[in-house]
Amino acid sequence: MNGKTIELDLTRAGIAIPTRAYQSRIDEIDLAMREKRGAGSDYLGWFDYPLTYDKKEHELLKKTAAHIRQDYEVLVVAGIGGSYLGARAAIEALNGLFPGKGPEIVFLGQTLDPDYIHDALEYIKGKRFAVNVISKSGTTTETSLAFRLLREMAEARYGKAGARDAIVATTDKKSGALLTLAKEEGYVRFVLPSDIGGRYSVQTPVGLFPIAVAGIGPTAILEGSKKAMEELESPSLEENTAYLYALARHLLYKEHAMKSELLVTYKPQLVQLGEWWKQLFGESEGKEGKSLFPTSCTFTTDLHSLGQFIQDGERSFFETILHVEEPNSDLEIPSDEDNLDGLNYLSGKKMSYVQNKAYEGTLAAHSEVAKRPNLVLKTRKLGAFELGYLFYFFERACAMSAYLNGLNPFNQPGVEVYKRNMFHLLGKPGY
Ligand code: PA5
Repeated sequence: MNGKTIELDLTRAGIAIPTRAYQSRIDEIDLAMREKRGAGSDYLGWFDYPLTYDKKEHELLKKTAAHIRQDYEVLVVAGIGGSYLGARAAIEALNGLFPGKGPEIVFLGQTLDPDYIHDALEYIKGKRFAVNVISKSGTTTETSLAFRLLREMAEARYGKAGARDAIVATTDKKSGALLTLAKEEGYVRFVLPSDIGGRYSVQTPVGLFPIAVAGIGPTAILEGSKKAMEELESPSLEENTAYLYALARHLLYKEHAMKSELLVTYKPQLVQLGEWWKQLFGESEGKEGKSLFPTSCTFTTDLHSLGQFIQDGERSFFETILHVEEPNSDLEIPSDEDNLDGLNYLSGKKMSYVQNKAYEGTLAAHSEVAKRPNLVLKTRKLGAFELGYLFYFFERACAMSAYLNGLNPFNQPGVEVYKRNMFHLLGKPGY
């Protein structure tokens, strides 16, 4: 696998991967995706989106984002699930948790909690805020409620015409309540193509507009995804790391009694990437009583909470570690005359050196001592390009994985059950 932007190391997977036995099944699924056949094939637009995206719209996206960056202090992103997790994951991963410059990005529309909504609205009250409302259906309760409040606030603050400048809507190309409203009000509109579902939409304006307002190059994300497409062109398991990853997790599930996959990173700024990944796999695969339960952890932080369990607890889960080899910035550990903390043995060493030793020690502890399967995804660094690559890599792996399980990766029938109950209890007409 050497030479790939993101490498997959299966030396600690602890299982044999009979690639030859699976190649023809993988080839069949791959061909069906390329030819847009098979379950859920109406939602395969993401497959070649890094090539087919609307270049004119992309220019408008960058221009509008520059305007918002210039004229507003806060961008409120109103969306839920696939309509916000990718943007949040990218913004935190790349700008960190203490960005300090450029417009602040606030997320709303992903909860019904009155305290959170109240506090967020209070927080933006005195600030010059813009809004990006994102909803494919345009009818999602959490998002629509938040947007109703935000729109009212924007119109009260800036007037109707001013609100038009402050509100950007991202929605389905052809249908939905938000599309109708956005057209009527004359908001700038971006398109979530009809053949792309929410959890596969981070490379569309759904993710890219908030990402661009946060000062991250949206084109670099798309370029990274395009590179992944190129590197994953061949379905051969000798070449295609996404399919090999899908197969490894499939075998762990089917033949080695694994029930859950723990995505591990060593960066607190990747917690939201874990949330995005959980939605991608959870909503794509959690069907018909099947599939791995996707969960995530941040090391070394969680080694001090869940570390005991991961080392010694229940056997039925494996780890997938996303290892970023080089940090964007590093620190040298100072020497201390008194050495009361006993840390002088590290003086002059870099923080990245300490973190790497923690990584190596943990990998050995979990894979060699605990005999827990560890799959390792490695990237030299993590910038917008690598993140774009990673998004596409996981999308492709996830679709393959669901198909290997005999599932439609692109629907989410289970999500409707709570909604029906809630609507009935709320007295929504028709429920
Ligand atoms: O992945 C999905 O399809 C879901 O998570 C949706 O993105 C989420 O439910 C939000 O839907 P909508 O964009 O229609 O408001």
